[in-house]
Amino acid sequence: MCDCNKKDDFLIQIVEEHGADKSNLIQILNGVQEHYGYIPKEAIIYISDKLNIPASEIYGVVTFYSRFSLKPKGKYNICVCQGTACYVKGGERILEKVKSELGIEVGETTADGKFSLEPTRCLGACGLAPVFTINNKVYGNATVDLVQKVLKEYKEKDNNFI
Ligand code: FES
Repeated sequence: MCDCNKKDDFLIQIVEEHGADKSNLIQILNGVQEHYGYIPKEAIIYISDKLNIPASEIYGVVTFYSRFSLKPKGKYNICVCQGTACYVKGGERILEKVKSELGIEVGETTADGKFSLEPTRCLGACGLAPVFTINNKVYGNATVDLVQKVLKEYKEKDNNFI
């Protein structure tokens, strides 16, 4: 079970809402991902018990779909498009710049929990390639200088609120 009552309440509610049936697994996981920003281990155990699905099977589903994450994301979640149009126009350089600026690899979150970096296929903005997003805000025609400038702004913006 979860380590806090709030989590338990949400899990009880979402399973009741959708129905404790195997066919509702994806909808329940969608709700959990949206609520927590990731799929906590406790949620997998709870859902496994209620829907009578082995936890290993649920792990398999969670790791198969890129929209699910087993780790909490940062306050600012960065996606660097690695689709074909962006790749051709230098998406790899953009990704390397984000990694070096933040000191993290794809799939990781900075130690302070502020930034996370996700792998991403086409974001549907190929005309603006190369593209990256921060919490769904799109930055097109990206350059390494733009990455540096934008990340600096986010770091400063965050410091101003502390
Ligand atoms: S390939 Fe990057 S937005 Fe389409």
